[in-house]
Amino acid sequence: MNPITPDRSSFSLLLSAGWLLAGLAGVIVSTPSAAAQPMPIPEIVQKEGRFALLVDGAPFLILGAQCHNSSAWPAVLPKVWPAIDYLHANTLEIPIYWEQFEPEPGKYDTSIVDLILKQARERKVRLVLLWFATWKNGSSHYIPLWAKDQPGKFPLIVGRNGESVDSPSPHSSAALQADLSAFRAFMRHLKQVDAQRTVIMVQVENEPGAWGSVRDYSPTAEELFADPVPAQLLAALGTKAPAGANWTTAFGSDADEYFHAWSVARFIGQVAAAGKAEYPLPMYANAALRDPLTPGPANTYESGGPTDNVLGIWRAAAPALDVLAPDIYQHESARYRKVLELYARPDNPLFVPETGGPAGYPRFCFSALGLGAIGWAPFGLDYTSYSTEPQGAPRMTEEALAPIALNFKMLEPMMREVARLNFDGKLQAIAEEPGQARQTLDFGSWKAVITFGAGGRNNGTSGNPTPIGRALIAKLGENEFLVAGVYGKVDFTSPTGRKRSFRRVEEGGYENGVFKPIRIWNGDETDWGLSFFSAPQALRVVLSTY
Ligand code: DGJ
Repeated sequence: MNPITPDRSSFSLLLSAGWLLAGLAGVIVSTPSAAAQPMPIPEIVQKEGRFALLVDGAPFLILGAQCHNSSAWPAVLPKVWPAIDYLHANTLEIPIYWEQFEPEPGKYDTSIVDLILKQARERKVRLVLLWFATWKNGSSHYIPLWAKDQPGKFPLIVGRNGESVDSPSPHSSAALQADLSAFRAFMRHLKQVDAQRTVIMVQVENEPGAWGSVRDYSPTAEELFADPVPAQLLAALGTKAPAGANWTTAFGSDADEYFHAWSVARFIGQVAAAGKAEYPLPMYANAALRDPLTPGPANTYESGGPTDNVLGIWRAAAPALDVLAPDIYQHESARYRKVLELYARPDNPLFVPETGGPAGYPRFCFSALGLGAIGWAPFGLDYTSYSTEPQGAPRMTEEALAPIALNFKMLEPMMREVARLNFDGKLQAIAEEPGQARQTLDFGSWKAVITFGAGGRNNGTSGNPTPIGRALIAKLGENEFLVAGVYGKVDFTSPTGRKRSFRRVEEGGYENGVFKPIRIWNGDETDWGLSFFSAPQALRVVLSTY
């Protein structure tokens, strides 16, 4: 019999107990008699261009936090969990280091994996495990010592002028086989020890690609570069180049970058496929981004990773990856939104596995939800005393974490509903934009009008002093909405031209999938619209006209 890993929200308790599945187009239902069976393996499903991550058989929203790079050690974990608890995060993203997992060739140390699983289960927190192996931020610093001692088998790439570059070559079959074997062992172990599905996704490598050279110019790479572009890639990209064209003929000035992207993606795709053959958890690769608005040439960003311009190459080269995910450290609103738009594609679920820490970023969780994200997770959220500057706070304290905690306190109790409503295309969410106090969302039968700024009788036309407002609205019925937000006001207008009346406004939360009111809002709370300040509230709103 396999124990279950209930999430913090009570809805998932019910799901875990009975595998009840509601609201998924035409799907499912099974019985509690299945209690002795393992939980279903998490998977990503698609419907009409929208995606859901199914965990325990139902849509799940990752409200995540990633710890610092060197925090996944037994002595350090006690400084990780208090931050996760304070945040109300439902998922911890945490590395597994190849150098720690395979200290000697073929000898695997699973102790840290087991410890992290145990501690996560004690806290009812899910895990996304990050396989730090051949690539970590474009380098190979996490390969085991025995691999570092064999530069012939684990070569670095060679720059255009023959210089050695601190980035692994994707052209070494020995390196591929070594990484792939270790990852296979890691996934095999996970399958054996995690029938509860505490681990819901795996990141394969970390920000792969190369800094300092657009591609490998070693003799081996040069030979491959002179070869014809694989027909599979030409077909996938719809390139008009003749069959047999080499990289330069087919792609001109993009050839170097495309060649490196293909080579890195092929390597990682094979690692992912080998792991999936053992245990098919959803898998993704994360990208160090280029500037989404003014990208510049390939030598100004990390080349070869899943940047927005080579997503098609990655899709063709690495079909075992379910998601190509942006690490967003660009806090300017237009850039952040553009990145989200570039990665939310019909062939790619939107997932933000890393983003900036507290300052300026928390509202973008709602921008991501508005584009159907299956999860959002800031980086560097633990108490190991490191700051997350320049992206975040100078010191990681509860005060610094509070703006993210506010998101998660609001969303976590209804994360199953939010994920399901998003999958069903019924949810819209926004962040406040600088200099734009008012936004309108069209729900057909009603328009929602969101104004940011101080609440009250004459409120909401000026915006907040800094843009910190966020709102989420989902259509539950023709005249019924779920509304949540902070630092703004939500009202509705009817396209019939008749005046809006709040027939009933209930504050409450979801229990076992059912909205349970704790009070009715009326008077000052509704007479000039629904004002949200800094409390994590959710409302069920029933409208009528007069
Ligand atoms: C992005 C990387 O993916 C993380 O592992 C970490 O190095 C952060 N950058 C640091 O800002």
